[in-house]
Amino acid sequence: MVELEKLNSLMLEYLDPEVRLVLDMGKYTIEAGGKRIRPILMIEVCRMFSDDCEIVLPLAVGIEYIHMASLLHDDVVDGALTRRGRASANLIFGNQAVVLGGDYFYAKALWLYAVYGNLKAVELVSRAVMHMSQSQILELISLGKIISEEEYFKIIDGKTGALFSASMGVGALMAGSPFYEEFYKIGMSVGRAFQLIDDALDYAGSEDRLGKPAGNDLREGKCTYPLLSVIDKLDREWVLERFGKENREELRQKVIELGGVENTKKRAWQEIEKVIEYVSKFENSSTFIDLLESVVKRDY
Ligand code: FPP
Ligand code: MG
Repeated sequence: MVELEKLNSLMLEYLDPEVRLVLDMGKYTIEAGGKRIRPILMIEVCRMFSDDCEIVLPLAVGIEYIHMASLLHDDVVDGALTRRGRASANLIFGNQAVVLGGDYFYAKALWLYAVYGNLKAVELVSRAVMHMSQSQILELISLGKIISEEEYFKIIDGKTGALFSASMGVGALMAGSPFYEEFYKIGMSVGRAFQLIDDALDYAGSEDRLGKPAGNDLREGKCTYPLLSVIDKLDREWVLERFGKENREELRQKVIELGGVENTKKRAWQEIEKVIEYVSKFENSSTFIDLLESVVKRDY
């Protein structure tokens, strides 16, 4: 497995801004930690096909910068107060600085892709960010509404799936594998599984483990899979009287009681099983399969 410490120190090293406040925001965000699942996936896909994956390290850093930028922007959009167990960066540095700092991290990521990657790698990550930002808009305009399962998957494929796709696609590409588009495609299922677990934990996870309060999605009026999976067992009027409202706790408990969290975890496993089946055809896939399982087994 990849050494997290090495990744974290490279993340600090490549940041290299001229303006002190950008460095402060970067350090604050990097030192708050995080699972680093996207760079790890990239490196492990690369290792499936090549013994020399040093070449992919700056690109792994770059994918985490994109993730960082997206969370900084997302916390401004969501008006978040906490992230990774600390006050969110928008609360410390202010919305304006955080939006602009996010721009710096995103641009630095593209710079790393241009300098250490190749045009195809730049195309894969840009494709992912175009998908992400459009899905965030879709999510924004669906807040407070009960959406369909199809709309839900459209949103999560973009907001989370796309960057997982790019991670896995770039990992395969840089290892010289001709299957990089297949890895981009299958990465979407890994991202789906990851987001489904996130959405399950938002209903029933522990705040201590998550580093952010549970129940955020219902507070923000985000309609996610735990609710969608039991919606036919509920009266819509009853749901709408509680969805995004003060008395939302009653709705959260009801969704848990009806099995919404279990349904969501089951759905996440189905996605991961598809991926495991695909990667099993490659030699050396066992470490990667363990990693895939950890995506759905996590409790934070
Ligand atoms: C968190 O979702 C948000 C995302 C996974 C994606 C955010 C994407 C963008 C803002 C667009 C891309 C922008 C750039 C600069 C690359 P969430 O709110 O459901 O999760 P949370 O509870 O962790 O906040
Ligand atoms: Mg958010």
